[in-house]
Amino acid sequence: MPTLTAKVSQSVDFIGAFDPKIRTFDIIMKTANGSSYNSYIVRGSAGVAIMDTVKKEFSEDFFLRLESLCDYEEILYIVLHHLEPDHSGALEELMSRAPQAKLIISNRAVLMLKGIIKSDVAFETANTGKTISLGDKTIEFLSTPFLHWPDTMSSYLHEEKVLFSGDVFGSHYYDERLFDDKVGDFSYAFKYYYDHIMRPFKQYVLQALNLYSRFDIQTIAPLHGPILRTNPQYYIEKYEEWSSEEKFRKHTFGKKMLSVFYMSSYDNTHKMAMKIMEGADSIEGVVASMYDLASLEENNMIDLLEESDAIIIGSPTINGDAVKPAWDLLSCMAYLESGGKIGAAFGSYGWTGEAPEMLHDRMQWLKFRLPAKPIKIKLIPTAEELEECFDFGAHVAEIAMGKMVEMEI
Ligand SMILES: Cc1cc2nc3c(=O)[nH]c(=O)nc-3n(C[C@H](O)[C@H](O)[C@H](O)COP(=O)(O)O)c2cc1C
Ligand SMILES: [Fe+2]
Ligand SMILES: [Fe+2]
Repeated sequence: MPTLTAKVSQSVDFIGAFDPKIRTFDIIMKTANGSSYNSYIVRGSAGVAIMDTVKKEFSEDFFLRLESLCDYEEILYIVLHHLEPDHSGALEELMSRAPQAKLIISNRAVLMLKGIIKSDVAFETANTGKTISLGDKTIEFLSTPFLHWPDTMSSYLHEEKVLFSGDVFGSHYYDERLFDDKVGDFSYAFKYYYDHIMRPFKQYVLQALNLYSRFDIQTIAPLHGPILRTNPQYYIEKYEEWSSEEKFRKHTFGKKMLSVFYMSSYDNTHKMAMKIMEGADSIEGVVASMYDLASLEENNMIDLLEESDAIIIGSPTINGDAVKPAWDLLSCMAYLESGGKIGAAFGSYGWTGEAPEMLHDRMQWLKFRLPAKPIKIKLIPTAEELEECFDFGAHVAEIAMGKMVEMEI
């Protein structure tokens, strides 16, 4: 029976739960070291605030820890920085045990609350600048949307300089030693978490860091993994670096990056790819590159997609579909900021030829700008058809350079 609570600062204690066995999180993340659902209690002269809860299955640990530090009647506020079930799982039960407590959620969480708790509950909303008082303690809220869901917010305990950062600065890293100076090396988990949860929202990360910079932060208390108290600035700088880094080609040459990804069994789509690249390369200011999807690993796909201003994907039609690596490539957009990139599709086919249009449609859903109709060529491309491919590449590259007006297609 766990009884461990841990002092985070003079009036803040950890009351979360440990999940050493979890190996996959939110479907998309591998968690070799398990995780924790961090929850905190803040004690003031007038009463206490509970900062987030835990995943439902871990409620018992959470309530045991909570009860070892306060009576339910003392709870003035329940603050939910983020409504994802890994943090809201014990909310309903906590509210029924402490009916007098005021629930505080972000403005953007209002519409989600009903989807999480299927009954009407009273709540107050918080936006940047709102404060609550626990008597001698003041908590100020900060709106930090999309980190990790639209509803996410953070808060700051002024008197003890503790930042409750939500999922920001989290790691899926179970270690009951809990503090960054005591636990094992969690650096990979910290970066992995950033890459999977924060990387698609880099602009929002930078906005959040800007808000945080108003405060003198001594301790970062995130919702997962180690509590960061040794040198909080180090972690802040890492997030800043990862969110603002310019990829090296863009940075070095100031050019637009156009990448042609293709796959080909009898060289037909490959021939098209080469001509498309040649066409793109003929436009000044564009760095055109070509990649065979058969040999690209996922991490490289993500980096290349991120670096590219324009992405042209080629797939033969095989059994009425584009090939799996082409879909895998597009599924990597889940890890990246969407919108604004230019896309186009092409491929050789034998009789039905659906692949290019299917890829085109998928890119549309992913908010690519699609300035050209997809091109498909029956079996072996002729010299004239290869000229079309050249023009296609040049056209997309010119759009990437902003030299041509996009036509509605
Ligand atoms: C197993 C297999 C399944 C295929 N299925 C289709 C299909 O459903 N529709 C179609 O238009 N072509 C189909 N094709 C024909 C290819 O799309 C065509 O040969 C194309 O030129 C291959 O281009 P590549 O050399 O770039 O791989 C199929 C070919 C193979 C080998
Ligand atoms: Fe989350
Ligand atoms: Fe979380």
